[in-house]
Amino acid sequence: MASHQNSLTTLTLTLIAITIILYTSRVESIGVNWGTTASHPLPPSKVVELLKLNKITKLKLSDSNPQVLESLSASNIDVTVTIPNSMLRSLNTSLKSAQSWVHDNLTRYISAHTRIEYIAIGDEPFLQSYGSQFYPFVVGAAINIEAALIRAKLAKNVKVVIPCSFDAFLSESGQPSKGHFRSDINKTMIQVLNFLTKTKSPFFVNISPFLSYYQNKNISLDFALFKETARPHNDTHRSYKNSLELSYDTLITALTVLGFPNIDIVISQIGWPTDGAPNATVSNADIFTKGLLDYFHNRKGTPLRPRVMPLEIYIHTLLDEDQRNITAGNFERHWGLFTFDGQAKYQVDFGQSTKRLVNAQSVEYFASRWCVVNNNINMSNATAHAMEACANADCTALSPGSSCFNLSWPGNVSYAFNSYYQQHDQRADSCDFGGLGMITTVDPSVGNCRFNVELKASLAVLLRRSKFDCPLILLLLMVWLLLDRF
Ligand SMILES: *[C@@H]1O[C@H](CO)[C@@H](O)[C@H](O)[C@H]1NC(C)=O
Ligand SMILES: *[C@@H]1O[C@H](CO)[C@@H](O)[C@H](O)[C@H]1NC(C)=O
Ligand SMILES: *[C@@H]1O[C@H](CO)[C@@H](O)[C@H](O)[C@H]1NC(C)=O
Ligand SMILES: *[C@@H]1O[C@H](CO)[C@@H](O)[C@H](O)[C@H]1NC(C)=O
Ligand SMILES: *[C@@H]1O[C@H](CO)[C@@H](O)[C@H](O)[C@H]1NC(C)=O
Ligand SMILES: *[C@@H]1O[C@H](CO)[C@@H](O)[C@H](O)[C@H]1NC(C)=O
Ligand SMILES: *[C@@H]1O[C@H](CO)[C@@H](O)[C@H](O)[C@H]1NC(C)=O
Ligand SMILES: *[C@@H]1O[C@H](CO)[C@@H](O)[C@H](O)[C@H]1NC(C)=O
Ligand SMILES: *[C@@H]1O[C@H](CO)[C@@H](O)[C@H](O)[C@H]1NC(C)=O
Ligand SMILES: *[C@@H]1O[C@H](CO)[C@@H](O)[C@H](O)[C@H]1NC(C)=O
Ligand SMILES: *[C@@H]1O[C@H](CO)[C@@H](O)[C@H](O)[C@H]1NC(C)=O
Repeated sequence: MASHQNSLTTLTLTLIAITIILYTSRVESIGVNWGTTASHPLPPSKVVELLKLNKITKLKLSDSNPQVLESLSASNIDVTVTIPNSMLRSLNTSLKSAQSWVHDNLTRYISAHTRIEYIAIGDEPFLQSYGSQFYPFVVGAAINIEAALIRAKLAKNVKVVIPCSFDAFLSESGQPSKGHFRSDINKTMIQVLNFLTKTKSPFFVNISPFLSYYQNKNISLDFALFKETARPHNDTHRSYKNSLELSYDTLITALTVLGFPNIDIVISQIGWPTDGAPNATVSNADIFTKGLLDYFHNRKGTPLRPRVMPLEIYIHTLLDEDQRNITAGNFERHWGLFTFDGQAKYQVDFGQSTKRLVNAQSVEYFASRWCVVNNNINMSNATAHAMEACANADCTALSPGSSCFNLSWPGNVSYAFNSYYQQHDQRADSCDFGGLGMITTVDPSVGNCRFNVELKASLAVLLRRSKFDCPLILLLLMVWLLLDRF
């Protein structure tokens, strides 16, 4: 009898343990965004290795690049692919093009054991700066893609989602209880929400405490960074302790106004950049990301959704990308948890045994060579040449408050020359600048200001170029592939 009771107790304890594990494993639904808008992207296979080393099991792609999808096969990583905004118009008008998109960009990879969980219709099609270029096609495109999925018998496993930008909803008074969607997209949002409800898909939303802080003088840095010392924002009897929950509840009110108070939410993009603006620093990004993960793990929820957490959150982003559009700001190229070459900027605990990020392994760089200005000759034209270099290369680290702002002249000219030289694969003729350029093997980096040496061109880059430089590059590519095999 006693032993019977003992085994009952053991069973109960086991059940409790399993419940706790299941419960807490839901908390692990943290993923990252990964884009490849870089001059020399880290090769997809290295990125997949990097994700695995860091126990990151969810990935949202900003496109549906074939090499990337192939490298994710059998990786046990759940993937969201994104349809580019430029395709939405044709996907809205033609079911046929939706079917070929699903066939070419999905069916093939799913049968190769890539776990595609969501298809995102557009990359922030509701961004205010896009006006009405893209959002009118969103619902039609979603309906056609869903129909194509049903036909391909994939609709059970793959959900269609529509990412909503941080500026799609607002509250003029700053109070979440007065939240609403922007009036120009209000009607479309109702159709979006009806579609998502019908297909049982979650609402994808990008939230940006950094941009809230950057654009809104009423949000303090401490409030954006989850600091306990931040002054709370009060909304009648509710108290908001950080910018994330303020934005989140503004969204909840906007959804409630339209009659969808309980729809599941995925935070599809949230992060803090480390360069390109004052307060876009590694130490602030470190504080922000730790605050975000603690907030998520605490499971307290927000005043309007107590104890109900977003289904998943995706940290923006995995790696820096030196060719992202910088209309919104120079920080756009510096959102990475890792630098462009896969080196951790700060430490994040994703459940690795060491609780530290692991860097990308055996990364291949060009030679340790830099291009700098030769200050032994007449430099009256140096600034003009630097501006020219910056028009093509990445000079975002030279902007006020950024990591290389303190270089001053002519150090900043050297920075510009080097960026151009590296982006052009260290070709000797890309370090000319009217005779002002000079190649050196002495690293000119100072303090936090890093003069990069680029990555050896990845497969994706070679393929992109091979369209223009055939057949020599193709030949080189084959040799390179063969060498890589052995
Ligand atoms: C989307 O496609 C539908 C069906 O072809 C069409 O009626 C509608 O006008 C299209 N929407 C836009 C904004 O062009
Ligand atoms: C697959 O996706 C890529 C990029 O997202 C696109 O360029 C291509 O046209 C798509 N294929 C089809 C058949 O739509
Ligand atoms: C600004 O924030 C404070 C709380 O820090 C709040 O009392 C005030 O209403 C806010 N004003 C606006 C215009 O958002
Ligand atoms: C949006 O639509 C809803 C429902 O039709 C309406 O109640 C609300 O006033 C509209 N909001 C805006 C900002 O246009
Ligand atoms: C907000 O309310 C808290 C108590 O809930 C109070 O301590 C705090 O001073 C209030 N803040 C503002 C800005 O009114
Ligand atoms: C950045 O933060 C500091 C405080 O750490 C503040 O004094 C400064 O004004 C901020 N810069 C901008 C542009 O907001
Ligand atoms: C960058 O984005 C802006 C606004 O979205 C757009 O007008 C511009 O053409 C883009 N620039 C490039 C180089 O794509
Ligand atoms: C440098 O060149 C400019 C013309 O480009 C000339 O005006 C200037 O005197 C030169 N300076 C020196 C120190 O030779
Ligand atoms: C500066 O540029 C101008 C115009 O390209 C050129 O004529 C001049 O010789 C240059 N000066 C020096 C010192 O290189
Ligand atoms: C730049 O120099 C100023 C003044 O010496 C210093 O306060 C600041 O921290 C420096 N910035 C960087 C990014 O090193
Ligand atoms: C370099 O710094 C000087 C002054 O310190 C400035 O006039 C120039 O525009 C800067 N150049 C670049 C490329 O940032």
